[in-house]
Amino acid sequence: MNQYLGSFGLKDDPFRITPDPEYYYPTQEHIAALNSLNYAMEQREGFCLLTGEPGTGKTTLLKVFMENWKERAEIALIMTPRLTPDEFIESLLDDFNIDTSQEVLSDQIILNDRNRMLKAFRKFLLGHSAEGRRVAIIVDEAQNLPVETLEELRLLSNLETDKEKLIQIILVGQPELHHKIGSEQLKQLSQRVTVRCSLSGLSKDETADYVNARLTRAGASAALLDKKARSAIHRFSGGIPRMINIIASRAIMAAYLKGSPVVGKEHVMIAEMDGKGAGVLRRSYSWLGRGLQYAALFIVILLASIIVAGMFRY
Ligand SMILES: Nc1ncnc2c1ncn2[C@@H]1O[C@H](COP(=O)(O)OP(=O)(O)OP(=O)(O)O)[C@@H](O)[C@H]1O
Ligand SMILES: [Mg+2]
Repeated sequence: MNQYLGSFGLKDDPFRITPDPEYYYPTQEHIAALNSLNYAMEQREGFCLLTGEPGTGKTTLLKVFMENWKERAEIALIMTPRLTPDEFIESLLDDFNIDTSQEVLSDQIILNDRNRMLKAFRKFLLGHSAEGRRVAIIVDEAQNLPVETLEELRLLSNLETDKEKLIQIILVGQPELHHKIGSEQLKQLSQRVTVRCSLSGLSKDETADYVNARLTRAGASAALLDKKARSAIHRFSGGIPRMINIIASRAIMAAYLKGSPVVGKEHVMIAEMDGKGAGVLRRSYSWLGRGLQYAALFIVILLASIIVAGMFRY
């Protein structure tokens, strides 16, 4: 562990940017989104869409969701979705550990690869459905899925018995996913999306609570960051959790380097300056620039008045 973390009583780095479910903090939006995903699973809804700007906590939420369902469902998580339809099915079978070798000579005909894979997949789904278990496919970064693969997913979602869908599909991605699915080409898929939810960012109060929760989880006192520091973090991060983590982490480092036992607003300013390439400096230069403009204007007006006054004297 870093020496500087230890000096603040931290047993762990509280603001790492990996999506670690142990640090999950349930904001209003995260709770609502998690409820929607749970609903989609419980009601066996076909398609579910979760969107949000980068760093808002989509992958973190998925990890919490998967943890909650791990006893009751088989879930495949596809993280690298730039796959063709066949590659996608192959990677699904791989994730679910489905063996396709038995399908080769079934019904005395040799099935081609694709049919073999689909047949094995259907058998797998029916087996789990008979046991009352759910099967879900989650695609993270789904904005990168090619249109043909999204179409393939729609076809997979058609696998159903007379009573219920055999598979739930959760697409997760940045807001452009929303637009992609809304396109003319994917109209049929869009009509099948029954649950939609989104994440946008934390309020000022949530940001303060989020920072507290992470600090205490890592073993430090919540008082390590003072009130003004928390407000500044919210202002600079826009409430986006990844940005909160980056700024808070740098602010703690700045306080350490200055030998301060607490993190104040001034350390957050340094952190912001670091991250944005001297953001604070740039702002002060812009004030300086504006100040110079006013001074120049003032001098011009002053000179003009002197000249005009001089003209009237004679
Ligand atoms: N509700 C939350 N509780 C705790 N930490 C969170 C929460 N939401 C986000 N974070 C933290 O914010 C960071 C970014 O989260 P995550 O990677 O889940 O975002 P994302 O929406 O998947 O981003 P991207 O679109 O870039 O994939 C991680 O460090 C994660 O731990
Ligand atoms: Mg993510």
